[in-house]
Amino acid sequence: MKEELVLDQIHKTTDQGEIALFDISFSLTRGDKLSILGPSGSGKTTLLRIISGLEKQNFGTIRFNGRSMDLSPPHKRNFGMMFQEFALFPHLNVFDNIGFGLKMKGWNRHRVRSRVDEMLDLVNLTGFGNRNPLELSGGERQRVALARTLAPRPELVMLDEPLSSLDRVLRKKLLAQLVRILSSLNITTIFVTHDHEEAFAAGQRIMILNQGRIEQSGTPEDLIRRPANEFVRSFIGSPGIGTDSGNPGRS
Ligand SMILES: Nc1ncnc2c1ncn2[C@@H]1O[C@H](COP(=O)(O)OP(=O)(O)OP(=O)(O)O)[C@@H](O)[C@H]1O
Ligand SMILES: [Mg+2]
Repeated sequence: MKEELVLDQIHKTTDQGEIALFDISFSLTRGDKLSILGPSGSGKTTLLRIISGLEKQNFGTIRFNGRSMDLSPPHKRNFGMMFQEFALFPHLNVFDNIGFGLKMKGWNRHRVRSRVDEMLDLVNLTGFGNRNPLELSGGERQRVALARTLAPRPELVMLDEPLSSLDRVLRKKLLAQLVRILSSLNITTIFVTHDHEEAFAAGQRIMILNQGRIEQSGTPEDLIRRPANEFVRSFIGSPGIGTDSGNPGRS
């Protein structure tokens, strides 16, 4: 199959001179679901920000459908990103939150309405358009955030710890919903998490990141049966990493 997203030897050094990403290379074909799994500070968010164009790598190239993205600003990349600490616009209702990016793109009212209705249906929130984000549960809010990310028909979707703000029970439920929605769409997806159960549920392929480097990349079965090193073995092997204790590196 033809490669869609290609990262070739991406390096990133922080302003403080620390290595945030070292020699990151991988490729995805259309519809692939990749999970990036790694502890706090391993470079997951930095990598997504570089792919989306919000940050610039020091070396290396990103291509999409054969075209270099390196000089392309974020809004020209047509990628959707759902951020880790996601905030909906509190002063806009659910409808306007989902339609926001579409209006920015100059879609007319009729087209915005039909797309937002379609998205509300997709995330099972039909009838919630007039609600304020504050009147929603955490899980409903995240579904609105997903609808907003998907509305402009991005060619690549990146989800940065989309469940991290939710309690454990809700996380399980929403994870199943997210996976179902995303697999119903033939859209290339990168799902970032520090929780291996989430990573295994969301991705056909898992990339393990540690201190800015890829420790191993493979199917869940590869990682469990043939861990490349002690880090992978212990990170995958210890039950419930990050599932109960939250994200240890963040306050
Ligand atoms: N704006 C910044 N300025 C300087 N250093 C940064 C910045 N953002 C991140 N870093 C550093 O880059 C490294 C990777 O951080 P990043 O946020 O990508 O990790 P992460 O894997 O997303 O962690 P978490 O699971 O906690 O979200 C860390 O060492 C971090 O301190
Ligand atoms: Mg992060």
